[in-house]
Amino acid sequence: MNTRNTIILAAGKGTRMKSKLYKVLHQVCGKAMVDHVLTQVEKTQMDQIVTVVGYGADDVKATLGDRTAYALQAKQMGTGHAVLQAEPLLKDEVGTTLIVSGDTPLFTAQTFEDLFAYHEAKHAAATILTSVAPDPTGYGRIVRNNIGIVEKIVEQKDASSEEQEIHEINTGVYVFDNQKLFAALHQTSNDNAQGEYYLTDVIEILKQQGDIVAAYQMADFDESMGVNDRVALANATKIMRNRINRQHMRDGVTLIDPDTTYIDAGVKIGSDTIIEGGVVLKGSTVIGEDCYIGAHSEIRNSTLADHVTVTSSLLEESTMASGSDIGPNSHLRPESHIGPKVHLGNFVEVKKATIGEGTKVGHLTYVGNAKLGKHINIGCGVIFVNYDGLHKHETVVGDDAFIGSNSNLIAPLNVADHSFVAAGSTITDDLKQYDMAIARQRQTNKPNYYQKLPYRGED
Ligand code: UD1
Ligand code: MG
Repeated sequence: MNTRNTIILAAGKGTRMKSKLYKVLHQVCGKAMVDHVLTQVEKTQMDQIVTVVGYGADDVKATLGDRTAYALQAKQMGTGHAVLQAEPLLKDEVGTTLIVSGDTPLFTAQTFEDLFAYHEAKHAAATILTSVAPDPTGYGRIVRNNIGIVEKIVEQKDASSEEQEIHEINTGVYVFDNQKLFAALHQTSNDNAQGEYYLTDVIEILKQQGDIVAAYQMADFDESMGVNDRVALANATKIMRNRINRQHMRDGVTLIDPDTTYIDAGVKIGSDTIIEGGVVLKGSTVIGEDCYIGAHSEIRNSTLADHVTVTSSLLEESTMASGSDIGPNSHLRPESHIGPKVHLGNFVEVKKATIGEGTKVGHLTYVGNAKLGKHINIGCGVIFVNYDGLHKHETVVGDDAFIGSNSNLIAPLNVADHSFVAAGSTITDDLKQYDMAIARQRQTNKPNYYQKLPYRGED
């Protein structure tokens, strides 16, 4: 039976990135480049997927998990040598093998399918995926003879000045007859400018032994972009961002200014949600339908139900239920769970707290390590004092309680439902149901004292 297999090359260090992070783990729209590649490969029907790892092998494996098998390239001796490391896993397969690099994050499954179809139609032993680059510097060039037949691929560093003029480039994606690939790889040498075993040399070897080599030129150069440095990383991110944004718009999301809207690959957004410019949506964020995300908000790994309004605020690892709103200039720190129809207004910081339905926290308040019930009114400038310098303590506030402005609730504390804290109180003792607590110095008025003060008013 003919099988379809994939080898993903991801063992290189990525010297040109000048980074502590291994190249293929650099992120494009919140997802490692090699993960983008694998995701598209997974959408194509495959019998086996092998990822060649070397530099940062453990980190790459931790990122991709068991979605792929692995081959280890202990020493990086070139792309041809890298493919050979997959030989023990794939050598017995009769069929076709797709090779793709972990640093080309923009390829789509459709292009892989088109390449397979072309390869099969041409009955080729190898088909190279090529594209035409406006600036081909750095890429391998496709050398064709005078009737347009592919002869070989020449790397930038080995290319003559004439060959450097060629704009048709090797995208680094190929399909090969599996058996012929490994047989030819054993014939490659490292006699070139980089002293490496080039995968690209297999093309010339197959040609010389009389095999058919085809080249399928894709229309869109952008999709084939290889990322070797930070400039290309930014360019690839821009293209991916554009692709992601267009998909959301097609799915019914309004982006007021897609050019300044930064949505990670894993984010989900419901229809009729409106997103203003300058918004950043990261990680596994999920936003429901009919939400409004105001300008310059940032939402990380959070889940928003339908009809949620966020105005210029930062949300991290939190949830907001239907009809709730926050901002402007507020902050949900991790593990904040905001109930339905909760109102969080200006300059409110919430950390590790749950807030029940209909509760209002309008202004200038810190809620940390707390459980708040339903329909509570928290006045302006309330502080949940949760830290004694050594430990964090919890505050519980029951349903329908009222916390007057400028109060300190010193944890651990239990404020029962239907109880009332008078404004300006520093509360250290629990309140029972229907209690009112007032904990502030009594006011004394001193008659005519104004005249004894040096202050004479502002004329
Ligand atoms: C390669 C191609 C070039 C093509 C370009 C497309 C070769 C010799 N050159 O060049 O023709 O235009 O991709 O983007 O194939 N890798 C290993 N082990 C190694 C070396 C590399 O696993 O020993 C991996 C890297 O992690 C990377 C991929 O192979 O994911 C490509 O290597 P890279 O160094 O980026 O090759 P390019 O110079 O981009
Ligand atoms: Mg590359």
